[in-house]
Amino acid sequence: MRLIVESKPMADKHFERILVTAALPYANGPIHIGHLAGAYLPADLYCRYQRLKGRDVVFVSGSDEYGVAIMVRALHEGITPKEVVDRYHPMIREAFEGFGMSFDHYGRTTSPVHVETSQDFFRYLAEKDVFVLKTEKQLYDPKAGLFLADRFVRGTCPVCGYEDAYGDQCERCGTSLSPQELINPRSTLSDATPELRETTHWYLPLGRLQPELERWIATHPEWKPNVLGQVKSWLKEGLKDRAITRDVPWGVPVPRDVAEKAGVDAEGKVIYVWFDAPIGYISATKEWAAEQGDPDRWEKYWRDDRSMLIHFIGKDNIVFHCLMFPAMLMEYDGFVLPENVPANEFLNLEGQKLSTSRGWAVWLHEYLEAFPPDLLRYSLAATLPETKDADFSWRDFQTRSNSELADILGNFVNRTMTFAHRFAEGKAPPLVNPSETDREALERLAAFPARIGAAYEAFRMREAVFETMNLARLGNKYFNDTEPWHTRKTDPQACANTIHVSLQICAALCVLMEPVLPFSAAKLRAMLNLTGVRASEPGAGDESLRGWDEAAGPLLEPGHALGKAQILFRKIADEAIEAQIAKLKATETPEASEEPPYEPLKETITYDDFARLDLRMGTVTAAERLPKSKKLLRLEVDLGFETRQILAGVAQQMTPEDLLGRRVVVVANLAPRKMMGLESQGMLLMAENRDGTLAPLTSEGENGAVVR
Ligand code: 2FM
Ligand code: ZN
Repeated sequence: MRLIVESKPMADKHFERILVTAALPYANGPIHIGHLAGAYLPADLYCRYQRLKGRDVVFVSGSDEYGVAIMVRALHEGITPKEVVDRYHPMIREAFEGFGMSFDHYGRTTSPVHVETSQDFFRYLAEKDVFVLKTEKQLYDPKAGLFLADRFVRGTCPVCGYEDAYGDQCERCGTSLSPQELINPRSTLSDATPELRETTHWYLPLGRLQPELERWIATHPEWKPNVLGQVKSWLKEGLKDRAITRDVPWGVPVPRDVAEKAGVDAEGKVIYVWFDAPIGYISATKEWAAEQGDPDRWEKYWRDDRSMLIHFIGKDNIVFHCLMFPAMLMEYDGFVLPENVPANEFLNLEGQKLSTSRGWAVWLHEYLEAFPPDLLRYSLAATLPETKDADFSWRDFQTRSNSELADILGNFVNRTMTFAHRFAEGKAPPLVNPSETDREALERLAAFPARIGAAYEAFRMREAVFETMNLARLGNKYFNDTEPWHTRKTDPQACANTIHVSLQICAALCVLMEPVLPFSAAKLRAMLNLTGVRASEPGAGDESLRGWDEAAGPLLEPGHALGKAQILFRKIADEAIEAQIAKLKATETPEASEEPPYEPLKETITYDDFARLDLRMGTVTAAERLPKSKKLLRLEVDLGFETRQILAGVAQQMTPEDLLGRRVVVVANLAPRKMMGLESQGMLLMAENRDGTLAPLTSEGENGAVVR
């Protein structure tokens, strides 16, 4: 393609193609609106806009399938990491598809191409002597036979004394820790007390690379302030060398030949997930090129300085995309570096932080069961957390859908189509002797593609969306001002002119709204019978077709026959919104706050009341999650004289491992109850802490012993 993109404000840089990446989501759970608002929606808006401009764009992403996050999930569910990613990868891919994410390729990091690409990358840098090898003592679980990375060790926080702090962070006071700092550390795998053992790892010497990174960052004063702010603060603190290998059983294996040359035993060593994940962008581009029947084509996008690389991410990924991955690319000569990293801040939900563990989220697959994708795309795009955290609320969603999409855009299209079908035989009438108002409307319309485009080019997506809706506002105002319902009787040519101009505005809207409302734009295309215009889908950028710039108009010839009118946006009823709010509140679990209140005492009972309870000691001999239930664990408890099946509503606070083998107190004379098709034959006694965490009641007594 010959079209050229200029990078602003450095207009001396000319690019011939654009490679866009959106952060690879961990395949350890479904995707929610926060993910969408952080990286994927802005990336999709940008790519669709660029394709409509006729530019050569490749848009890649994929599932991030290695790393400790996946292992922890597997452990919680009692399944293998591979089973975890095989469950969530298709689920995530489908949710993205449902929302119209127009990836040219969506890959996964367990693919053979990715494993090979990451190993080659690692090998190349190792052979170039970029890495540093360090041998250090790390916590090791002798029972499980594993080194304990980050989340696999818990212990007492040295700062606040919280007894259940993780090896990488204390969740109570927020201090970031390293596993060795924990007091009384214990393995979350086996509960064993870890010991210190020597192990050797490869490090990326970010300290040494800092000056080069600083010089490069200085060439990008145009990056967003939130991104530059974080980058500069990392640089100011001084970059530390980062271990890029781990001793865990899940990851891309360290290449044996590299280990051998270094005199290190490769057994059990894998590449750190933050080293392989960004290489996933390269692997995905390779897989895309192979699908195009041109396997070498990926290099044009990665190894030719006429390619513009843009990373869309959330703010928690800034250091990796602005410093670590660029350092890797710099050291591997010939790769392009990101031209921009327009990271977004976080999205809150109804004024509170999104939290997967507290169930405070709107899941994309659940949203799609209730509403069309375009409504959420629009609502989120209009409020993206571009410069600071933003809030999503269901009421705001309703207002945007009803008062903007339906009442402004939908209404304008609807009245234009109705008039065209009723008073112009379903055709675009010619424009004859246009009035000042007609001419002015067409002139103003002509300025929109450049104005909206400038906002997209500068990653100001909210502004682009606002300007898009302004074109519909212009359409409505023009329609009102020219009063075709009067002129149709008094001056039929003036009425025909109104229909002509309004149809040109509708056609322009159809193109210009496509980045944000692709599904509705397709509907509108059919209504207008608009052909010969580029689409924003992958591979649809045919140069001979009309596109973004041509939306300045006119797009419809006089006499052009229109299609059938349809309703573009249906209004959302209050009940539908109330149902969503109720659902959110119902799945919410309580959050630990600084000073939670003690629960008030219940009313006094007599000894006889108490004595009616039959409490027995037992041992948990089996514990598992129920696949369809978020709340229940299925336990088998040995009471000495019999074994009971008990369904405990603790799955959001405890894992099966937390309970397996524990001595517990059981209410043994509770009437059996059916839940999820299974009978629960008793209840475990638990102390519920004020922060909502649970601790089972326990004693040394033998199984079956009476507790009184
Ligand atoms: O934070 C995350 O969800 C990571 N999985 C993002 C990876 S982005 C890229 F490097 F692949
Ligand atoms: Zn702490």
